[in-house]
Amino acid sequence: MPAAETTAAAARALSGHGRTVCVTGAGGFIASWLVKRLLDKGYTVRGTVRNPVDPKNDHLRALDGAANRLVLLRADLLNPDSLVAAFTGCEGVFHAASPVTDDPEKMIEPAIKGTRYVITAAADTGIKRVVFTSSVGTVYMNPYRDPSKLVDDTCWSDLEYCKSTENWYCYAKTVAEQGAWEISRQRGVDLVVVNPVLVLGPLLQPTVNASTEHVMKYLTGSAKTYVNAAQAYVHVRDVAEAHVRVYESPGASGRYICAESTLHRGELCRALAKLFPEYPIPTRCKDDATPPVKGYLFSNQRLRDLGIDFFPVRQYLYETVRSLQEKGLLPVQPTIDDDHHPS
Ligand SMILES: NC(=O)c1ccc[n+]([C@@H]2O[C@H](COP(=O)([O-])OP(=O)(O)OC[C@H]3O[C@@H](n4cnc5c(N)ncnc54)[C@H](OP(=O)(O)O)[C@@H]3O)[C@@H](O)[C@H]2O)c1
Repeated sequence: MPAAETTAAAARALSGHGRTVCVTGAGGFIASWLVKRLLDKGYTVRGTVRNPVDPKNDHLRALDGAANRLVLLRADLLNPDSLVAAFTGCEGVFHAASPVTDDPEKMIEPAIKGTRYVITAAADTGIKRVVFTSSVGTVYMNPYRDPSKLVDDTCWSDLEYCKSTENWYCYAKTVAEQGAWEISRQRGVDLVVVNPVLVLGPLLQPTVNASTEHVMKYLTGSAKTYVNAAQAYVHVRDVAEAHVRVYESPGASGRYICAESTLHRGELCRALAKLFPEYPIPTRCKDDATPPVKGYLFSNQRLRDLGIDFFPVRQYLYETVRSLQEKGLLPVQPTIDDDHHPS
């Protein structure tokens, strides 16, 4: 590569040099990868966690660049002053903190009120851009949506349907995102939203998060059958990269669906069994009397236009399982091959 091009590539790689941003819920699955990506790009990062001295956040302190450019601050989504303190001196905020549960007691208030507090604190502290980690749960939940039509950023979940199906995660994230747009408009905050589907890939944090559990249950023997349902997936590295791209692209605006593949649960189990035949992965559908449910297909065009080239599902399924094994969260089984060729 000619010298001028090398210099330009290096400058792009270190686009965060001299810039400070805040990531809320920094110790979570997605946020940890985001903090890592931001540090790799030269940013100084203020990460909010609920307990900075909890050893569960040690993985953040171990990241390259963390010693000099990562500060962990105590903040709670329901404590607006803690958010203002964390955002002061930052040019941007990545709001990733949220409970991830269908328990309405735990989910609704921090997601909805917390997001309002984040946007308000961002306005009060003069933040230039907020990137909010929403969810595709704010996009597709609508009983009248035609499964044969591509779902894109113009679609919204139906709140009454979320309530009647007791899908409190989708309900709270939808109200939270709508609130974020409303306050951003009122307060003149430059908001950009990323809407990921179910996120998989290697874990940086020491414990299993909700979306990793989705795969884990098929490996431990706890799920004897799979449900007749479909789901869209994406690699956590692509989700982190999507956040950085929408932050750094001056023309970015609106919602960005972050999705790679849609699989029926049977397809997921078969893909896992092909990669890891040594685990007791279900081979039967719980409800095999009805035809397989078709999942929604999501448009990731807006992120492709920003240069994201999504990792394929086989790769992130493999990396998820290997990561669970390496962290001692999933026992390593003798491979089928080992059984046949004992040494
Ligand atoms: N993973 C997915 O498949 C997926 C898909 C779409 C969207 N998302 C969204 O992506 C974001 C991150 O999800 P994740 O999968 O990375 O979840 P995660 O690993 O469970 O991380 C969530 C983080 O939020 C923090 N948090 C929860 N309640 C809080 C509160 N009241 N105040 C401050 N912090 C709080 C937690 O902090 P503590 O460590 O202090 O508990 C945790 O670090 C969420 O907004 C989620 O809705 C996730």
